[in-house]
Amino acid sequence: MTAKLYSAGILGTGYYVPEKIMTNADLEKIVDTSDEWIVERTGIKERRIAEDGVPMSDLAMKAAEGALADAGTAAEELDLIIVATLTSDRIIPSTACMLQNRLGAKHAAAFDLSAACSGFAYAASVAAQFIETGVYKKALVIGAETLSKYINWEDRNTCVLFGDGAGAAVLGQVEDGYGILSFDLGSDGSGGDAIQIPSSGSLMPVSKESIDKRLNLIHMNGKEVFKFAVKAMGRTVKNSLEKIGMPQEKIDWLVPHQANIRIIESAAKRLSMPMDKVIVNIQKYGNMSAACIPIALAEASAAKRFKKGDIIALSGFGAGLTWASCIIRWSKED
Ligand code: ACO
Repeated sequence: MTAKLYSAGILGTGYYVPEKIMTNADLEKIVDTSDEWIVERTGIKERRIAEDGVPMSDLAMKAAEGALADAGTAAEELDLIIVATLTSDRIIPSTACMLQNRLGAKHAAAFDLSAACSGFAYAASVAAQFIETGVYKKALVIGAETLSKYINWEDRNTCVLFGDGAGAAVLGQVEDGYGILSFDLGSDGSGGDAIQIPSSGSLMPVSKESIDKRLNLIHMNGKEVFKFAVKAMGRTVKNSLEKIGMPQEKIDWLVPHQANIRIIESAAKRLSMPMDKVIVNIQKYGNMSAACIPIALAEASAAKRFKKGDIIALSGFGAGLTWASCIIRWSKED
């Protein structure tokens, strides 16, 4: 890691999930599946679904307001807003710009970041660079999704997995030696076809034909992603630890992407971590892509599970393919 002028860490967190709950029993009425299969193969019991007409930015806005309040930061203090998402309200303008306006963050630069489920750790690492160099003082990093709007509700292979939600964190300068100690970001575009929305951009603009063929919705090769994920999650944390010469026994908490409980358990095993040190909420929310990690962080922080000085490893993987991890020394006095 290069020399830093300042340490960048999390000053506050917030999250929001829609009120509407869709249970496995609800899904049994839509596709040929069972609660038993879903729980055994994924660990998911229910997920939240945004009502019709509710865009991703509404969820992100509520998570952002929570994070700003938790950090005691006013929107005018923000220098930067990054929204990690694959379900932006529109291709242009960015959702980050919409939030900049709604929050009244007059001095903030704003952009969306596309790294799918690895998005929050990617975005936090990017924001940290500006804070560590002293260029910016406060950044708002959001992971938010309304995946339900891109689900093929006739495809049992994917429709049982995903949900909607938003998590946010305010990043700023923290005490020396605290905050984001290291990160690891990676990509392997050769696996890009494994998770994709084929008709969603300039390659195949959305058309009546693509909608009829459901090509405007999520397509996934679950087995391929599973094989990649079990290796990537542990490996990226080890890469981050190696950069600062920290042994894996030092990790107090693992905050993993919540795609499948079997992937989480495998990552924990590779890192020799007992499951009571792993933050898991997949049973309540399913896979919310970029929103999983910040929601898990915010829930654990609100429940006062972290103590100042705890070492927390964030670990994500997702479409791209991408992976990302951050090692954080928790700086908040909860
Ligand atoms: N209910 C009942 N049966 C099902 C269901 C379902 N919902 N879904 C699949 N099946 C069936 C399959 O059709 C298959 O039947 P067959 O043998 O007759 O063909 C059988 O169950 C087994 O299917 P597998 O694909 O082998 O099931 P697996 O144990 O691999 O679990 C799953 C599938 C849950 C998708 C798993 O592979 C997985 O979690 N993959 C990773 C997904 C992921 O992590 N995505 C994250 C990235 S998402 C992003 O970036 C946005």
